[in-house]
Amino acid sequence: MTGNRITAVRGEIVHFLADPAHDGRALEHFADGVLIVRDGHIAECGPAAELLAKLPPGTPLTDYRGKLILPGFVDSHVHYPQTDIIASHGEQLLEWLEKYTFPAERRFADPAHAAEVAGFFCDELLRNGTTTAAVFATVHPASVDAVFEAARTRRMRLVAGKVLMDRNCPDFLRDSAEAGHAESRALIERWHGRDRLLYAVTPRFAPTSTPAQMRLAGRLFAEHPGVFLQSHLAENRGEVAWVAQLYPEARSYLEVYERFGQLGVRAVFAHCLWLDDTDRQRMADTGTAMSFCPTSNLFLGSGLFDLRRARELGVRVGLGTDVGAGTSFSMLRTMSEAYKVLQLGRQSLSAVSAFHLATLGGAHSLYLDDRIGNFTPGKEADFTVLDPRATPLLARRSAACATLEERLFVLMMLGDDRAVLATHVMGEPAR
Ligand code: GUN
Ligand code: ZN
Repeated sequence: MTGNRITAVRGEIVHFLADPAHDGRALEHFADGVLIVRDGHIAECGPAAELLAKLPPGTPLTDYRGKLILPGFVDSHVHYPQTDIIASHGEQLLEWLEKYTFPAERRFADPAHAAEVAGFFCDELLRNGTTTAAVFATVHPASVDAVFEAARTRRMRLVAGKVLMDRNCPDFLRDSAEAGHAESRALIERWHGRDRLLYAVTPRFAPTSTPAQMRLAGRLFAEHPGVFLQSHLAENRGEVAWVAQLYPEARSYLEVYERFGQLGVRAVFAHCLWLDDTDRQRMADTGTAMSFCPTSNLFLGSGLFDLRRARELGVRVGLGTDVGAGTSFSMLRTMSEAYKVLQLGRQSLSAVSAFHLATLGGAHSLYLDDRIGNFTPGKEADFTVLDPRATPLLARRSAACATLEERLFVLMMLGDDRAVLATHVMGEPAR
């Protein structure tokens, strides 16, 4: 693409080389660090004292001293068409879908509306330090074009797909098994692997697809190497009971997806609250990921995610905002709510684990950790710059911290978009 464009940033660098749950030395920290970017990729990451001397004369150097430089956040589950129904009062999942979600998604039949929301959505992700997300569009193919186009112009790495939904939904949002399959296939051909964009086969959830559509979705996932599959699983108890009625032959909700070939590498399911250990073990064994969406789970009163059990059984887990049932685009806010959800389940989330989940852990859950998630050489240079003194309270509380771990915890408990000073995509400032 280009010749050797080299830039550098200087600041306090924090990133992960591995999962801190398995490796006590996974966190790498340079109090005064430098990140050297060549052609959008990490060339080197290390102490300023060493790297500044290596910079070719005239290299543009952005000075973020006093700020934290972290890998861009990874939001492993979010709905861009629900941007405008965030904070809609008063329902649990199935009523919330009928009352707010489906009417909002109907408007995406209009490509101009889709383009406007997609642009706002991508800007909002970046404003919050999120550089990669796994995104639901609507049932309308043009809604997928809109979000990929918005991500492409911002050079973001994005996973997205057209919602498949051929029953138990309003007529105005219903596709058919055949049309949904053909449209998904055309979208894969148009977008998958173009620039940094990746396609996800997206059956909304088991109740809104016929067995015929579920079968075709599994086939699409199997027949297109590198393509993702995303859906919802065991979020709400009423939903779980409904799935048991619709699929009486399945042992569990998870088994419905398994019967249709929808588990495996690059499959990611949001929520995963009402599972048993057989399900969790099956997810681990097949490499299927969970997206933990705490703000959504609290907002819809869905339940409490069991991170400890998922970890013990070796399931891949990422964090998701699940906007618009989720109440914030901020992964800092999402980490803070994750901490509280786990407190209610007598589990404790360390700041180190939370920041890992939001960066390298999220990338690992999506099988993207060979490209994003930390600052090892060769990775795509997506990063966010956090200001620990962004608000008077943050400044005051941060000043009283003795350790990096304490400062990270304060940032995740008190921080939000105000703490995001800048976000860089492929090395370049995005805002
Ligand atoms: N289950 C099926 N569709 C949805 C959705 O749009 N949001 C959430 N939170 N759960 C779902
Ligand atoms: Zn969702």
